[in-house]
Amino acid sequence: MPDAAILMDKMYRHQRHIYDLTRKPYLLGRDYLIESLAPPQGGTVLEIGCGTARNLICAARTYRTTSFYGIDVSSEMLAQAQKAVKRANLASRITLAQGDAAAFDPQQLFGRAHFDRIFISYALSMIPPWQETLARAFDLLAPEGSLHVVDFGDQAGMPNWFRKSLKGWLDLFDVVPRVEIARELKAETRARGLILNHQALYRGYAFHAIARA
Ligand SMILES: C[S@@+](CC[C@H](N)C(=O)[O-])C[C@H]1O[C@@H](n2cnc3c(N)ncnc32)[C@H](O)[C@@H]1O
Repeated sequence: MPDAAILMDKMYRHQRHIYDLTRKPYLLGRDYLIESLAPPQGGTVLEIGCGTARNLICAARTYRTTSFYGIDVSSEMLAQAQKAVKRANLASRITLAQGDAAAFDPQQLFGRAHFDRIFISYALSMIPPWQETLARAFDLLAPEGSLHVVDFGDQAGMPNWFRKSLKGWLDLFDVVPRVEIARELKAETRARGLILNHQALYRGYAFHAIARA
């Protein structure tokens, strides 16, 4: 088993049962990202690092003609996600598979090489090869497709005490807020002739970015 899978399984083996409830107050901006997806009729959406499938389920309820796909490296998280998808009666429109964000092959996993929308929600801050993950996501976009990212921001508008305690809390979960993501997104979008819309949310607590044609 690859290192990332071992690490994430260890992290989430027990937490997966309380994940959705406990993350709701601080993984901010996820619903905003879902609203921004607006996939075409009958289109396809992929989430990289889908966790418990919380986002995929919300999105599938919003966009009813869309097919959804999710990958995650943790089989523990995927077991939780499969249960939730089944409970929500969405197994016909949400397909999940195990894969490493920086190296998965969607053709092999889902029989599909490109997606109309790809999103990454609070996963880049947990993935050491986050640059490779971003590059992979761009490569998998269909023509006219868009990439949507939400994650921790630069905390610029937050008081020092808040920043410090948030960092202490996130360290417990191997989460590293990465201010460099904005720079990388800018470079990738420019190199690929795309347009980037990057927005700080909640005084810099989080950011939301969309790269599109
Ligand atoms: C903080 S959770 C976010 C889950 C979900 N996206 C959300 O917004 O609720 C991060 C997820 O990324 C997954 N992950 C971490 N490293 C990964 C990797 N290398 N490849 C794929 N998924 C990974 C973890 O297993 C976990 O489910």
